[in-house]
Amino acid sequence: MNYSEVLDKAREILSPVCLVCKECNGVACKGWVPGVGGKGHGRGFIHSYDYLKSVKIVLDTIYENRGQDTSIELFGEKFAAPIFVAPIGGMDINYGGRIEEGDYHSRTLRGAKEAGIAAFTGDGANELYFEAPLIPLKELKGWGIPTLKPWSQDKVLDKIKIVEEAGALAIAMDIDSAGLVHLAASGKPVFSKTLEDFREIVAATDLPFIVKGIMSARAAAKLVDTGIYGIVVSNHGGRALDDTQAPAEVLPEIKKAVGDKLKIFVDGGIRSGADVFKALALGADAVLIGRPYAYSAIGGGAEGVKLYTEKLISELKDTMLMSACNDLSDIDLDKIVY
Ligand SMILES: Cc1cc2nc3c(=O)[nH]c(=O)nc-3n(C[C@H](O)[C@H](O)[C@H](O)COP(=O)(O)O)c2cc1C
Repeated sequence: MNYSEVLDKAREILSPVCLVCKECNGVACKGWVPGVGGKGHGRGFIHSYDYLKSVKIVLDTIYENRGQDTSIELFGEKFAAPIFVAPIGGMDINYGGRIEEGDYHSRTLRGAKEAGIAAFTGDGANELYFEAPLIPLKELKGWGIPTLKPWSQDKVLDKIKIVEEAGALAIAMDIDSAGLVHLAASGKPVFSKTLEDFREIVAATDLPFIVKGIMSARAAAKLVDTGIYGIVVSNHGGRALDDTQAPAEVLPEIKKAVGDKLKIFVDGGIRSGADVFKALALGADAVLIGRPYAYSAIGGGAEGVKLYTEKLISELKDTMLMSACNDLSDIDLDKIVY
């Protein structure tokens, strides 16, 4: 199976709930929440994609080329590339039940591990969204990162214990989930979190804790002294609030605000190795990719996830080669125009 066949298969299985468009840019699926699109007019999703495309890479081949090393160390582990599978929960409500929750996560977790990277897993209104991924996660000796919704603090602390028992690499929380339409509609209360809440979570676990859903330097700066491991600069794929800035657009000011005190992950509209390069140049340590991993897993299983990752790494290496970069630390703001 090659990657083009993975996409054909995904289109066959998913149409019309996801059209697996040639450009996964949020246009065909605008407003599909629940579903695969962006909220409202879908402008948050579309703008995130378009902004990243508008960033230009500076071509430069005058350097001592020692070969391109895309590896990175995070959570005390080594990864083949600064790329993670983003948490995607709710195969029933978002992907028309074309795949079971556990099967989906088994594919992403396994495929990611085989490709030398790792997958985040999701959470949601249905307990199954949190629980089903834990089975393949345990089988893989915890090689993955569960992402909790911002439930009441008691519930969060209980779930952290379950994640610890699964031996996960780290734990995340998508604090922007308070804006998810289907969550509010299902009557499962989610809450805004305070700095005290974050400190309590950090004190309660040895796992690195990542806060997902940061979109301003102001919010990022608040988290610097809480003991968290890192942040995901993210607008939830345009699903939490319409008309936001693009995550890539706010990255430089966030990097300036937190420096090296927090690891910075970013997601939203990242599709290619060149996009990964741009995100790193703008200030990220690593990226998450959502929808394309979902249709790769649905169309090609763990193999589809692996093929897409290999494609991304090959494109990232090619971009590094053509812009005087030997390793990830060479990728900085001088390598792009934005
Ligand atoms: C159908 C769907 C379900 C999602 N479920 C979750 C979730 O359970 N937890 C979470 O933190 N983010 C969730 N997200 C957001 C993604 O993790 C990620 O932030 C976003 O998809 C990145 O944008 P991209 O899809 O353009 O790469 C979901 C996104 C989609 C499209």
